[in-house]
Amino acid sequence: MIADRIIGHRGAAALAPENTLAGIRKASACGLKWVELDLSLLGDRTPVLSHDHEFDRCTNYSGSLSRSTLTDLLQIDAGSWFSQEWHNEKLPLLSDALLLCQTLNLGLNLELKPRDGESELTAAAAFQMISVYWHDPDKLIISSFDHEALSAYRALDAQANIGLLYDYLPERWHLQAASIQACSIHCDCNAMTQADIQDVKASGYDLYCYTCNDPEQADRLFALGVDGIFTDNPFIMTSFNQPNDLHDNQQSPVQPLP
Ligand code: G3P
Ligand code: MG
Repeated sequence: MIADRIIGHRGAAALAPENTLAGIRKASACGLKWVELDLSLLGDRTPVLSHDHEFDRCTNYSGSLSRSTLTDLLQIDAGSWFSQEWHNEKLPLLSDALLLCQTLNLGLNLELKPRDGESELTAAAAFQMISVYWHDPDKLIISSFDHEALSAYRALDAQANIGLLYDYLPERWHLQAASIQACSIHCDCNAMTQADIQDVKASGYDLYCYTCNDPEQADRLFALGVDGIFTDNPFIMTSFNQPNDLHDNQQSPVQPLP
């Protein structure tokens, strides 16, 4: 298995603002060994962490990332929407996120979120940053719902761990996985049947399910053979070993994410 059983979703999205350096630090402080982060491009093609292509939901700023540039990041507060504890937390550059993950010895599943028509551009921007800032290919998985972006990434890096993201597992998944030389399948935890899980595992791929914030569901998925789950709050997972000095975080509510 490449990643870990419990992977922090967007960092640790129920415990700190998603896709921020604070979120990465929180994930590490919780004891997580792997995180999932979303990559989007600004209008000047700067790769940053953002799930959405608009600033509105997770910052004090408004509008589309496509209309913004690197200098706009200075005035963007990506923490206060979540809690005043993270007032003026910055929307991070991918390069800073890559460096921080490695400093904290975290494995990373980087999810590419290209805008329409920018699959190759986004893959190239990710590859360029990873080539410079990431050292251990065994601790990195590149995934995306946009399989064109994954093909473009594969063309740039023959060795990369690539994960195919699906809402639900389509019939043709074997062909797609083989053609892209994927190592893992990433699927909605509510859409996987027992037969799907058996099929993926019998075919030799890692299987990771998103976004699981229900410990009983997680236990069921593990019992069926799922390798790992993405969760917003690792502390609610029964199979997660909780450090004693972090009990306060157990009280944090799990917030629904789009
Ligand atoms: O990579 C797993 C999961 O993050 C995919 O969905 O919308 O949360 O990026 P989303
Ligand atoms: Mg994601």
